[in-house]
Amino acid sequence: MRDTIQYDLSGALLAWYDRHARTMPWRVSPADRAAGMIPDPYRVWLSEVMLQQTTVAAVRDYFTRFTARWPTVQTLAAAPDDQVMGEWAGLGYYARARNLLKCARAVADEHGGVFPDTYDALLKLPGIGPYTAAAISAIAFDRPETVLDGNVERVMARLYDIHDPLPGSKPLLKEKAAALTPDLRPGDYAQAVMDLGATICTPKSPACGICPLRDPCQARAAGTQPDLPRKTPKKQKPTRYGHVYIAQRTDGALLLERRPDKGLLGGMLGWPGSVWSDAPADSPPFAADWQALAGEVRHTFTHFHLILCVWTATLPTETTLDDLIVLEKHTFRPSDLPTVMRKAYDLWRNR
Ligand code: ADE
Repeated sequence: MRDTIQYDLSGALLAWYDRHARTMPWRVSPADRAAGMIPDPYRVWLSEVMLQQTTVAAVRDYFTRFTARWPTVQTLAAAPDDQVMGEWAGLGYYARARNLLKCARAVADEHGGVFPDTYDALLKLPGIGPYTAAAISAIAFDRPETVLDGNVERVMARLYDIHDPLPGSKPLLKEKAAALTPDLRPGDYAQAVMDLGATICTPKSPACGICPLRDPCQARAAGTQPDLPRKTPKKQKPTRYGHVYIAQRTDGALLLERRPDKGLLGGMLGWPGSVWSDAPADSPPFAADWQALAGEVRHTFTHFHLILCVWTATLPTETTLDDLIVLEKHTFRPSDLPTVMRKAYDLWRNR
């Protein structure tokens, strides 16, 4: 049973959201929602997949470009893989983009282009995990599902002054979040907690003075809010090294490869290169007069830091090579590259 205090908490949060909801290109404002406007599940799904591990600020332009190019799930399902991977380039976590396409095709082929509207049915689709299934059922279909992301975890840990560290405390935080989820306006409520976490109950210097939950907040009463949520220390990331090879023909064309679907940066364009390991041998993809560029590329992935040495060579205009893609000057778009490959390109261009 939910007690009355908890109903008041969600009521206070909804009243705050009615006044302070952030405007987002995929969002139906609380006023429009109250007037009967229904969110488009395709846009909600696309935004939630993009927002995993990524900030709203970083996602905005990608979302706008994607929906201008592919306004419906059917149009996205029909898009060639390399165009979708190219539009995704720079957002990171490229398995998300491959699953995005698989999911669009499953919705188009197996569901007649209509997103299923329950948590369980959404969870069966490629790339949709518990968080995304809950977010889509709440936001697009106004179902009282509990959405637990980093923002919601922080709000719950502070509201109930929970000191157990993440990730072990997740089940307890989820229980607290579930107890607060109202039956009325659960979609607005899910977005309200996320907005509160992103704008008021921020990791550093939370704006407790203007928080709609400042009175019932137990961490604020105890003065512990800057220290919450606690986190179990992460293991230090190892550093790996590698070599990449940027060859340009005298006509300006560049030689790239499409990375295998499985593995890091799967399905993305990139420069041919060595394995990434403790001390990889330099291993040019073909014989040429390779020169090492001054400087290096540094990039951090989820589980390791990477330092790349960048090599360059010039080739005659007619050169083509098995397994490599020749991109003419006017067809090569640096924005199609994942960030680490883009950094190598920038080092090379500014050499
Ligand atoms: N972060 C992820 N999804 C969000 C949403 N729907 N609203 C606000 N922040 C979010």
